[in-house]
Amino acid sequence: MALLSFLALAASVLAGTVVASCPKPLIIDSDFGSFDDDPLALGLANIFQLWGEAEILAVVISTDYELAAPAVDAIDTFYGHPDIPIGANKPLSNATQTAEYATEYGDYITGLTYDWPEDVRTGYNTTTPLDLYRKYLSEAADKSVTIVLIGNTINLYALMESPADSYSPLNGTELIRAKVAELAVQAAAYGKSYNLYSDEPLDAEFVVDNWPAGVPLTYIGSNIGGNVLFGARLTTELNLTANPVAYTFNHSVGYNVSYKTWDATAMYYAVRGLDDVYAYNFTGGHDVADANATTHWVTCGYNSSENAVVFADNGIGNATFAARLEDILLWQPGDAIPASLTKMAQCTATAASSGVASTTGASATATTSVVPVSSAVKATALSGIKLLPVVAASFVLFY
Ligand SMILES: *[C@@H]1O[C@H](CO)[C@@H](O)[C@H](O)[C@H]1NC(C)=O
Ligand SMILES: *[C@@H]1O[C@H](CO)[C@@H](O)[C@H](O)[C@H]1NC(C)=O
Ligand SMILES: *[C@@H]1O[C@H](CO)[C@@H](O)[C@H](O)[C@H]1NC(C)=O
Ligand SMILES: *[C@@H]1O[C@H](CO)[C@@H](O)[C@H](O)[C@H]1NC(C)=O
Ligand SMILES: *[C@@H]1O[C@H](CO)[C@@H](O)[C@H](O)[C@H]1NC(C)=O
Ligand SMILES: *[C@@H]1O[C@H](CO)[C@@H](O)[C@H](O)[C@H]1NC(C)=O
Ligand SMILES: *[C@@H]1O[C@H](CO)[C@@H](O)[C@H](O)[C@H]1NC(C)=O
Ligand SMILES: *[C@@H]1O[C@H](CO)[C@@H](O)[C@H](O)[C@H]1NC(C)=O
Ligand SMILES: *[C@@H]1O[C@H](CO)[C@@H](O)[C@H](O)[C@H]1NC(C)=O
Ligand SMILES: *[C@@H]1O[C@H](CO)[C@@H](O)[C@H](O)[C@H]1NC(C)=O
Repeated sequence: MALLSFLALAASVLAGTVVASCPKPLIIDSDFGSFDDDPLALGLANIFQLWGEAEILAVVISTDYELAAPAVDAIDTFYGHPDIPIGANKPLSNATQTAEYATEYGDYITGLTYDWPEDVRTGYNTTTPLDLYRKYLSEAADKSVTIVLIGNTINLYALMESPADSYSPLNGTELIRAKVAELAVQAAAYGKSYNLYSDEPLDAEFVVDNWPAGVPLTYIGSNIGGNVLFGARLTTELNLTANPVAYTFNHSVGYNVSYKTWDATAMYYAVRGLDDVYAYNFTGGHDVADANATTHWVTCGYNSSENAVVFADNGIGNATFAARLEDILLWQPGDAIPASLTKMAQCTATAASSGVASTTGASATATTSVVPVSSAVKATALSGIKLLPVVAASFVLFY
């Protein structure tokens, strides 16, 4: 109840006219530049933010490409969120994609950086992922933040091993215990997954084996994303020189083709939960990882708050889910919000049925307006990190 009240208050302050239990605060941890699915997931999160369902507190990067951070900013800026803080580890490299997949996928971070408006220019102009994790977790309401891990585990490892600092007297694991609502991981709870074995498998082993037992951790594996194929309509229906997600998909995967969308399926779960898509697979146990980051689900020992999702037996199924994700990403700022796609009304209904004061009532289905979180708030909170002044996007959406 206290949490709902806080979120409702935060939503009313930040969004002006809307009082709801949403938006859900997110920290996105991405290996931007490795595959085409990170831009899809980031696009989804930005759209969910414009629809009042999510608030991106920060994007932290686990690849070392100098242009990954500006490319992230290009997508955030397109959706009217130019001041979302971005963190990248230094030193950075001039690589622009994962070498082992270079013949398979195109480099998209160079195009996003140079052909779209953004004001980061280089990852050297950003702070570190650890700095952003500690800052935004320490400032968050208790058990409020959803971390979406769509990259490797180096940043979460650094967080879990971090000591108290000027942001918080809590060490990293204590901060997670206090502030994290859930960790959504694009990886499988059993077997090998790219996000766990790439880069530092020992970091993945540590994170999986030492994740605090009471904090929900949900795996969204390749059993989901490997069977949710879309993207063709993004390239045929959107303007490839105007929409950065459409450009990315076309440039990285190709024109009028669909492809696996691992990270997008994890982002959907992170923001909307099981919805009419997913079910949990386990009723007890916890996950372990070995030194090669291969995971196993074990039912001996203790019952954690960990789980993995499967497609629900009575859910919409992979093809309909793929079409829904594609429909969401076809939406662009300025378009009317299709009532069939947004969960905004449910956010408001949750707040109302919980007894939280609502000023919107019937307007949720009529003319609710959604105003992007003030960029001025983010800019002043992070002075010295993103240094260029930016004019806040001020468009208002109606549906
Ligand atoms: C990229 O960096 C490597 C060394 O890290 C250097 O040898 C190479 O010249 C650089 N390439 C470009 C295009 O700057
Ligand atoms: C964080 O604090 C907990 C006690 O709450 C302790 O068990 C753990 O070892 C600490 N971690 C680090 C990295 O200091
Ligand atoms: C989607 O689900 C159907 C029915 O379960 C299955 O046959 C198919 O292989 C799945 N994957 C894709 C990519 O359609
Ligand atoms: C696509 O976007 C570009 C701007 O990037 C614009 O110049 C062009 O007119 C647009 N094309 C169409 C068909 O709207
Ligand atoms: C889209 O991708 C195709 C290759 O699949 C390429 O020929 C075309 O130039 C791309 N379009 C744009 C606008 O980049
Ligand atoms: C895209 O491909 C489908 C077949 O998969 C074809 O029916 C459609 O005409 C193509 N669209 C465009 C715009 O090329
Ligand atoms: C669900 O978990 C069981 C083990 O309990 C496993 O055998 C099965 O493959 C999982 N289902 C899916 C769809 O991953
Ligand atoms: C874990 O949960 C299962 C299913 O609810 C239960 O049968 C089992 O006893 C629990 N195990 C422990 C160690 O609490
Ligand atoms: C990790 O992989 C290496 C090489 O494949 C293998 O020799 C080693 O036994 C594996 N370790 C574990 C803990 O599975
Ligand atoms: C960011 O990076 C660019 C390019 O390296 C550099 O010229 C600039 O001074 C840096 N700082 C800001 C605030 O853009």
